Amino acid sequence: MNHFTYWSPTEVVFGKNTECEIAKYVKKYGGSKVFIVYGGGSVVRSGLLKRVTDMLDAAGISYAEFGGVQPNPSLEHAKEGIAQAIKFGADFILGIGGGSAIDTAKGIAHGVANPDVDIWKYWTNELRVEKSLPVGTILTISAAGSETSSSSVLTNKATGSKRGLDTRYNRPKFAIMNPELTYTLPAYQVACGVTDIMMHTLDRYFNPLENELTDAIAEALLRTVVASGTVAVRDSHNYDAMSEIMWAGSLSHNGLTGLGGAGDFAPHQLGHELSGMFDIAHGASLATVWGHWARYVYKTKESRFVRYAKNVWHITEGTDEEIALAGIQATVDYFKSIGMPTCFSEAEEIGIQSDDVLKDLAYRCTFEGARAIGSFRVLDGDDIYQIYKMVNV
Ligand code: NZQ
Ligand code: ZN
Repeated sequence: MNHFTYWSPTEVVFGKNTECEIAKYVKKYGGSKVFIVYGGGSVVRSGLLKRVTDMLDAAGISYAEFGGVQPNPSLEHAKEGIAQAIKFGADFILGIGGGSAIDTAKGIAHGVANPDVDIWKYWTNELRVEKSLPVGTILTISAAGSETSSSSVLTNKATGSKRGLDTRYNRPKFAIMNPELTYTLPAYQVACGVTDIMMHTLDRYFNPLENELTDAIAEALLRTVVASGTVAVRDSHNYDAMSEIMWAGSLSHNGLTGLGGAGDFAPHQLGHELSGMFDIAHGASLATVWGHWARYVYKTKESRFVRYAKNVWHITEGTDEEIALAGIQATVDYFKSIGMPTCFSEAEEIGIQSDDVLKDLAYRCTFEGARAIGSFRVLDGDDIYQIYKMVNV
């Protein structure tokens, strides 16, 4: 077991009507001028935004609203938010929505606390975040796990590069999680979320180390998400299924399912390049690449894939290699069953691409030759190109 620090300080407030406690939690974490960040309008249509602002009004807490965050949120839009939040005098940032709104809220918090810094330098690791504003969240889609994670992902639209920033300053102060707020999600978004939640654990589980307790927690989470995901995609009003997924979404990306391991995250890096270039939803980008990545790397440590097939998919018949491959196929079949693409031709935002595009994707994925990705098997530029070639069917 690798040494680790487990620091997951976000206060989770889970259950029906928990958003009604928003004023209490904003006050608890020092908010008096709240800058509210949200997306393209789902929280307006559902009435959630109005309910929240009514409650802030009633508690005498002032606020300003900043909507319009798009999926795969942009650096440019976050910078607009920073300017408005500074003008307003914000001392607290409240993200209402999913990963996109919450990641933008985190970016705005860093920018307001460091007004002289070009925040992209945090995402390119030229600078380290040393201070930020408190961020609170109300979650409306179970997926990215940003409501408790140490990460924030933004896309620099000018260069097309999508990057994640990992820092303790990204941990929100609280996460209000009412599964009923996810009832209005279209089936496709539920499926993208289910995929992303699975991938946050899979990208930790497939690593060179073995840790019995951590691995068993990961397998239990995966079995739960697979079972509840099938129900949730068919019926987004199923409280139990939406609850299981919501809690799994947080646990899958707060660090718990990879403790003591050496996280791989290569599929996430492969997927980020697809979202950066084609604007495909994050979860769909991961389903598109995962099976091909798995078939490319499984021989590095076949026993890991055998354990996965047995403990998550209950596959026991056959040789070790047959079991390993059946586990990969079961995962790909599952993604298909919930409506996810599993190769380029199935992803309507992408389609079959030329060899030049595949090479460009691979080059970008290595940060222009500056890095390899993954830990289960370390992948260089040529490996990445070979995998994109496999995906291009
Ligand atoms: O923008 P609105 O109108 O709110 O619509 C959103 C958006 O179109 C909609 N939606 C959300 N809640 C809804 C709803 N529609 C109806 N009813 C509701 N209750 O769903 C769409 C997707 O929203 P988004 O926030 O983009 O989804 P998600 O949570 O999947 O976030 C994706 C972003 O998070 C990043 C991804 O790369 C992507 O940019 N990630 C962030 C991570 C983190 N910070 O820890 C980790 C992840 O690996 C991921 O990379
Ligand atoms: Zn993800």
